[in-house]
Amino acid sequence: MKTELLHILRSQAGPVTMPEILAALGCTPDLLKSTLSGLSADGYDIAVENGTISLLNSPDTPFPWEFPGRQKALHYFPETGSTMDVARQLAQQGAPHFTVVVADTQTGGRGRMDRVWRSDPGGLYMTLVLKPGIPAADGLKLTFLASLTLAKVLRRLCRIEAAVKWPNDILVSGKKLAGLLSEMQATGGRLDFVNIGIGINVNNNPANFEPNATSIKALTGAFFSRISLLCEFLDALEAGLQHIDLASVIGQWKGYAASLGRPVIVVTPGRTVTGVAEDVNENGALIVRLADGSTEEVCYGDCFHR
Ligand code: BTN
Repeated sequence: MKTELLHILRSQAGPVTMPEILAALGCTPDLLKSTLSGLSADGYDIAVENGTISLLNSPDTPFPWEFPGRQKALHYFPETGSTMDVARQLAQQGAPHFTVVVADTQTGGRGRMDRVWRSDPGGLYMTLVLKPGIPAADGLKLTFLASLTLAKVLRRLCRIEAAVKWPNDILVSGKKLAGLLSEMQATGGRLDFVNIGIGINVNNNPANFEPNATSIKALTGAFFSRISLLCEFLDALEAGLQHIDLASVIGQWKGYAASLGRPVIVVTPGRTVTGVAEDVNENGALIVRLADGSTEEVCYGDCFHR
C-alpha cells in the first residue's frame, strides 16, 4: 500500500485529490488515512489540504516499500548489531536467494581480518544472501562480481573513478570508499549460501576517524541518495548473476583493478608478504612478485599500497 501510494504521489508534479487516490488504490478513506499516518511517522513530509495530498519530502531511508518487487526479500533495520549476523540467521532459516539485509547503523559492524567497521548514520550497510547453486570453489567469485558491479554502478551514477582493490575494496583516488566481506557455508562441495556484506561511505564522513577513507559526499560535494544507489546496485547485481560466466569474472574485475602492478604489503593472518602485486589468478588469489624474483600466492588477507 505504501509503495502504491508513494508511486501515485511521486508521479504527479502537484497535489493529488483524495478521490483520485482512493480510486487508484481501491481502498477505504480509513485505510488511506492510516497509511498516511504511517508514512508521516516514518519521516515522510506529507501535506493534506483542501481534500488534496502532496508529498513534500521523503527520508533517504531504505524502507522495503521503496524497492518495488523486493519488499518481501528486503529486511531493513534502523540499527542492528551486524547485518552479517542477521543475514546468516536468515540464510540458515531458509531465506531465498537474493535476500537483502540493510541497516542505517550497526553497533557491531565488522570488517575483514577481525577489524571493526564503523557504521555511522549516512553510510549504507548491507548483506546480501546469495544461494546461486554453484560449486563452493566458485563462491569467492561472487564477491569479485559484487565489487566489480559496485565499481561500475558508482562510476555511472556518481561519476567518480571507482576502482577495485584486492581483495574487495572500492577505492577512489587511492582512498577507501567501500569494503566487502563474505561469509560462506557449503555442504559436500556445494554452496549452501554466500553472504556478501558491503559497507559504502555515502553521506557519512569517515575521514574524521580514518584519513585514508572517503565518501561519495566528500568526493562530489553533494548528498547522494542511498535509496537510488541501493536500487541500482541490486538491479545490476541481480542481472549480473543471471548471466554470470564464472570463468570470466576475475578477468573482468582486473579491468577495474587499482592494485595490479604496484608495490604492496599484504598482511595475512599468519604472515606479511612484501612485493609487487602482479596478478589475481582464476581463483581470486593475489600473486605477489617478491624481491628475489619468486612469486607467492595469497588467498586471504589485506593489501596495502606501498
Ligand atoms: C572490509 O573492508 O574490511 C569489509 C567491510 C565490510 C563492512 C560491511 S557493512 C555491512 C556488513 N555488516 C558488517 O558487519 N560488515 C559488512
